[in-house]
Amino acid sequence: MPPAAPSATSSVLEALRSVLGAAGFIDGTAPEAERYLRDWTDDYQGAALAVLRPRSVEEVQALVRICAKHRVPIVPQGGNTGLVAGAIVDGPPSVVVVSLERLNRIRGIDAVNFTLRVDAGAVLQALKDAAESEDMLFPLALGAQGSCQIGGNVATNAGGINVLRYGMTRDLVLGLEAVLPDGSLWEGMTGLRKDNRGYDLKQLLIGSEGTLGIVTGVEVKLFPRPANVETAYLGVGSFADAMALFGMARRVCSDLLTAFEVIGSECIALATLSNPETRVPLEGEWPVHVLMELGCSSAIDGRALIEALLGEAFEAGLLGDGTIAQSRAHARAFWAIREDLVEGQAKRSRHIRTDLSVRLSDVARMIESARTYVLSNWPGWEPVAYGHAGDGNIHFNVMPPTGLSAGEVRERGTELLDGLYGLVRGFGGSFSAEHGVGRSRRAVYWEWLTPEQQKTAAAVKAAFDPLGIMNPGCLVSD
Ligand code: FAD
Ligand code: LAC
Ligand code: ZN
Repeated sequence: MPPAAPSATSSVLEALRSVLGAAGFIDGTAPEAERYLRDWTDDYQGAALAVLRPRSVEEVQALVRICAKHRVPIVPQGGNTGLVAGAIVDGPPSVVVVSLERLNRIRGIDAVNFTLRVDAGAVLQALKDAAESEDMLFPLALGAQGSCQIGGNVATNAGGINVLRYGMTRDLVLGLEAVLPDGSLWEGMTGLRKDNRGYDLKQLLIGSEGTLGIVTGVEVKLFPRPANVETAYLGVGSFADAMALFGMARRVCSDLLTAFEVIGSECIALATLSNPETRVPLEGEWPVHVLMELGCSSAIDGRALIEALLGEAFEAGLLGDGTIAQSRAHARAFWAIREDLVEGQAKRSRHIRTDLSVRLSDVARMIESARTYVLSNWPGWEPVAYGHAGDGNIHFNVMPPTGLSAGEVRERGTELLDGLYGLVRGFGGSFSAEHGVGRSRRAVYWEWLTPEQQKTAAAVKAAFDPLGIMNPGCLVSD
């Protein structure tokens, strides 16, 4: 889509400023715009005509109407923690970024219905806190939860560490409200658990990465807060043993299992980069660490369950060593290792990130093949594997040799990624388990679609956004 002509642009920007007021409008060249135009990893630097900060649904509608009238492309933005350049556009400034950060009210809890209504700009942690204040749980949990917004989670269909028991974001959403690309309001905050009236259009908006509309409100499912939480940090001999242990944990703990994360031992040095105090709670060196958690009501003896599991795993020769957390602080220290390794990677250098998924039965073989591919073909590049193994989702990342420029990492990294994607495709897997497509994976997304799937995806985009003004270049080509 061609950008608006410059003379039209300045009058359009004036119109937007007058609708949003001074606090709702930041010129794209102002220093305050900088934080909206650079992503969390610092891999992508963007540009925009302006950053718009509406504080009501009506303001979102008004600004979208102006943009639609003048064909000004809109990039919705939540907490800007996305990892695939969905909310960042580089090149000369041609878009407006719409930050939802001021549209952040908690609208209310319906404790009887076990639901929570919020504005889309509410930070994920605020939803979790609101649920906890009523002794309930909103289970979506990810490292970025202190800054990502529920609207961003919905737009990316975020996953995280509790998908195993509670599902992806799409499984947690019972109602949605969104401003469509013509400025009209799509209202669907039903809060219903069962509703078979025709197409479930909210599911199209979930995971659409800002390409079909701007999510302004969400109603999410809440759950009873588990009074008993048991967390264990374990050392095992291989990813194959970790997956065998997972199978055993599923059978012994059934649906009480909430998280089953694997951490390749090479990740510990990265965690230490972020937190020099990192201490692994294991005796001896183990190639693969497992961080698992289960949650249950106080009527169930979670400790006995986890001890029974670990006893059985030890007998079967699957478990090397392990520690069960004795307090919440102890459990938090285990989880800090998992969070610190992600920060440590970013601290160490630019790197190649993936979020691959395969069938549970292929996880260990996929990691082995990916390691062999990197070590045999990419001298000096270091594989790093960790992730949500219980969901078949591995972040198989690769650290470049020191001394490469950012440009070289990006260029060579694209070639390396092609190899990894080819490999995961051979397993019938996905190149994006949870982070989405954005701009950085648009080419591979289209390449993997069949002609029929391409046609359907293009038809969905055209039906919602015939002018092509919503997040152009993200998911679908502009
Ligand atoms: P943004 O980054 O601002 O935007 C992401 C996309 O959503 C963009 O395409 C944007 O246009 C669109 N968007 C944002 N808000 C709206 C809206 N209101 N309406 C329409 N479109 C919108 N992801 C996982 O799935 N699992 C993880 O475990 C995980 N861990 C992470 C850990 C760290 C440290 C970091 C930095 C990121 C992690 N992520 C993870 C990435 C994850 O996708 C994001 O953290 C989160 O879901 C994005 O939310 P956000 O509000 O930051 O969205
Ligand atoms: C994680 C993010 C990177 O699992 O998805 O840490
Ligand atoms: Zn993840």
